[in-house]
Amino acid sequence: MKSTYAGIANQHVFVTGGATGIGRSMVEAFANQGAAVSFIDILVQEGETLVQELKNQDCKVCFLETDVRDHDALIASIQTAARDFGPITTLVNNVANDQRHAVMETTQAWWAQCMDINLNASFWAAQSVYPMMKKQAGGSIINVSSINALWGPDNMPGYVTAKAGLLGMTKALAREFGKDRVRVNTISPGWVVTERQKKLWLTPEAEKEWKKLLCLPDMIEPEEVASLALFLASDDSQKITSQNFIIDCGRI
Ligand SMILES: NC(=O)c1ccc[n+]([C@@H]2O[C@H](COP(=O)([O-])OP(=O)(O)OC[C@H]3O[C@@H](n4cnc5c(N)ncnc54)[C@H](O)[C@@H]3O)[C@@H](O)[C@H]2O)c1
Repeated sequence: MKSTYAGIANQHVFVTGGATGIGRSMVEAFANQGAAVSFIDILVQEGETLVQELKNQDCKVCFLETDVRDHDALIASIQTAARDFGPITTLVNNVANDQRHAVMETTQAWWAQCMDINLNASFWAAQSVYPMMKKQAGGSIINVSSINALWGPDNMPGYVTAKAGLLGMTKALAREFGKDRVRVNTISPGWVVTERQKKLWLTPEAEKEWKKLLCLPDMIEPEEVASLALFLASDDSQKITSQNFIIDCGRI
């Protein structure tokens, strides 16, 4: 049975990369708890379909097409969401791109883009929501990193570097924002079963090999990551900041 957090119904939650995968589950989880939820993504059809589905369930939800590589567009969407649904109380920095690439094939342009999506967007979004959270004397910022930052798998140096950067960013922002009771934490998932992972990498053989490395012989579902985000957005975690929460069935 899922936990219900009474306070979340009064919140405005902003999720980056919310149209598919784990982000989609975050949007659904917060909306089902009664929160107003705004989310951004580049996938317009997926975003609009999700909005329709949730509106049919009487949820308060809004999708804004936004490419987080465009700093001004990202900030404009945050401001639009705050104007329409009120000040943002929880920010989930979920957006990512885990495209594989070898070190020696990496160009400057590719590296810059990788950092823009996987690291920089989270910083600019946090900077943008902080004044509104400060004004309300509190808020929660949740950065979604990855256990990949802790063990460094092959063929994704940009992603691993950016995800490690999020761990440091969490510490830095938690220190600076804490005096205003704005909390900043990281969630680091292990391998999560999303449609994209199934399509690209999560074969039955890969799953079998992966499970040999785990304490709990299970795969993680997107909803289970969303449950952790609910906790970190709720009053039940009001004394928790500057931490990294690993959800990986004991891989690390
Ligand atoms: N799936 C996993 O196994 C796994 C494991 C560890 C960590 N994570 C992390 O969890 C988070 C969500 O993972 P996921 O697997 O659902 O990710 P994903 O790559 O499937 O989806 C992320 C979302 O971001 C959107 N997006 C990508 N580029 C964008 C851009 N430039 N502007 C706006 N939106 C953009 C995508 O369209 C997608 O909806 C990510 O931060 C990821 O790094 C995932």
